[in-house]
Amino acid sequence: MNELDSELVTGQLRTLGYAMTPDREHADVVLYNTCSVREHAEQKVWSRLGEDRLRKLIRPATVVGVIGCMAERDGVDLIRRMPVVDVLCGPGELDKLPALIDNAVRTRESLLGDEPPAGVELDDRGRIVLEDSEERRRLTSAAAVALQGNTSRRSGTLAAAADSLELLDLSRSVSPDEHSGSAYVRITRGCNKFCTYCVVPFTRGAETHRPPEHIVEECRRLADAGVLEITLLGQTVNHYRFEHGASVSVGGVVQPQKGRSYQGGHRRDPFAGERTTTFADLLAMIHERVPGIKRLRFVTSYPRDFGDDVLEVIRDHPRICRYLHVPAQSGSNRILQAMNRGYSIEEYFEFLDRARAFLHQPEIGRPLTVAGDIIVGFPSETDDDFRATAGLVERARYKNCFIFKYSPRPGTIAFDKLADDVPEDVKRRRNSELLAIQQRVSAAVGAEFVGRTLEVFVQGVSKREAKRRQGASGGGGIAGGSVALTVGGKGVAVAGASCSAEASIVENPPAAGDVGGGAQLTSRTDGDLIVLFDVPAGRSAAELIGTIVPVRIERSEALALHGTVTPAAG
Ligand code: 5AD
Ligand code: SF4
Repeated sequence: MNELDSELVTGQLRTLGYAMTPDREHADVVLYNTCSVREHAEQKVWSRLGEDRLRKLIRPATVVGVIGCMAERDGVDLIRRMPVVDVLCGPGELDKLPALIDNAVRTRESLLGDEPPAGVELDDRGRIVLEDSEERRRLTSAAAVALQGNTSRRSGTLAAAADSLELLDLSRSVSPDEHSGSAYVRITRGCNKFCTYCVVPFTRGAETHRPPEHIVEECRRLADAGVLEITLLGQTVNHYRFEHGASVSVGGVVQPQKGRSYQGGHRRDPFAGERTTTFADLLAMIHERVPGIKRLRFVTSYPRDFGDDVLEVIRDHPRICRYLHVPAQSGSNRILQAMNRGYSIEEYFEFLDRARAFLHQPEIGRPLTVAGDIIVGFPSETDDDFRATAGLVERARYKNCFIFKYSPRPGTIAFDKLADDVPEDVKRRRNSELLAIQQRVSAAVGAEFVGRTLEVFVQGVSKREAKRRQGASGGGGIAGGSVALTVGGKGVAVAGASCSAEASIVENPPAAGDVGGGAQLTSRTDGDLIVLFDVPAGRSAAELIGTIVPVRIERSEALALHGTVTPAAG
């Protein structure tokens, strides 16, 4: 989700004349796209902001912005703690970011004689004001701030108001230069689940569903620009449902709709009328109308209410990947209840069995792979609860599983009501025990592919190769690991913190054109397994990256398969 937000933001900034710079030290604007899901991710941002404070002593004109969930959650407290921050923008207000930055830059350059951008109000000191609470105005008079402040939950019918985020998605710039064969497309925003540990319903607001015609059109534009692989995004992506009779158009743009609860059990939702586009309908529609997309997948699915209609559509459409990311979070019913997950572990297994019955067909070369998320050390988790979770990880046969230690997040229900009573060393021990189990399971799942030839989508040079090349060129790499932009003289550095990996910072791999035969490339199967292989003699990395090639799998390790491009690829 954050990666897509970064792409949309940088696309918008480019149109204003900004460009990426790989140099955070000398960038005129430094932006942090933040994640609040776990505390660790936030700590990284605090430490970067500390560095920026020092840098600003030397380069006072630098504009520092915090965008995303942390901005929304901490709000002006963030500025109180780190006055180095000039711009604050929540994930629900990203369409306003270009105006905020543009203004901050111009303010810094003392060009306040200019008219403010349309729709933006300046205070008497020439700074943008988008919030009208007295307190906020007082605290943020030195900064530009756009926060949703949870208004999306308060407004009765979102459809009645223009959803400016939809315009941001619609204005996405699509070109072969920006997309190397693979792209994300958002289908829903926000979440209504309120799992007791999770900040997302507060930071990203209520669940809304984008109009299917907008989604299909975006996929078509991406396919026209050479994209082969699309991942549909949503916090609970399989809840997608759009009712056409109820849609509202503002300024000629059909507006997203508030999420409704799915009522279909295993069948197509019986309350879905003829003019409803369900998630299954949407998948079939994209498959049919955008044949240029060779791989269509989606994340993240919510285990409950996963209809057979969706499984049937996946089974019957060859370009929809047989890959599901369906977090269980715990194997203990007591903990699942305390997490407010809304299903029992028996129901979760029933779902996995049903999904495998529909989709796991290794005999015709179409296996199903499943990935999961687990939280260990949730309040009151006992050894018995943990044993149940370990049993789940053994039995679920995930191809990989993201394992997190519970991190109490202020503002969530668990933070307010439940003591964080599992000691850190117990959390750590449970975390490593599960990792060890998952490593064994991943190795066993991978071993089943040895000897087979799989179609893989080539993503770029492998981490090992990138390191080797950096070593050979005497270091280099990206200062601070951030991705940077330069824009018409203005440099913007954007550092990302992903929602599903711990504050991962996007890395810049070496240019593909530099890499010749023998170099190691990384790729993914349609089931999202990582496959590493060497560029065959006589071919270059540049011609392989962004394409789909057949690779014969020779060996399997816990984290990756290794193979060779088969002659058929030539
Ligand atoms: N502590 C630990 N892990 C969390 N996740 C979400 N909130 C928390 C938290 N407070 C994990 C869940 C979710 C993934 C994106 O992050 O496993 O599926
Ligand atoms: Fe958070 Fe996912 Fe639960 Fe929504 S469904 S509250 S995003 S963990």
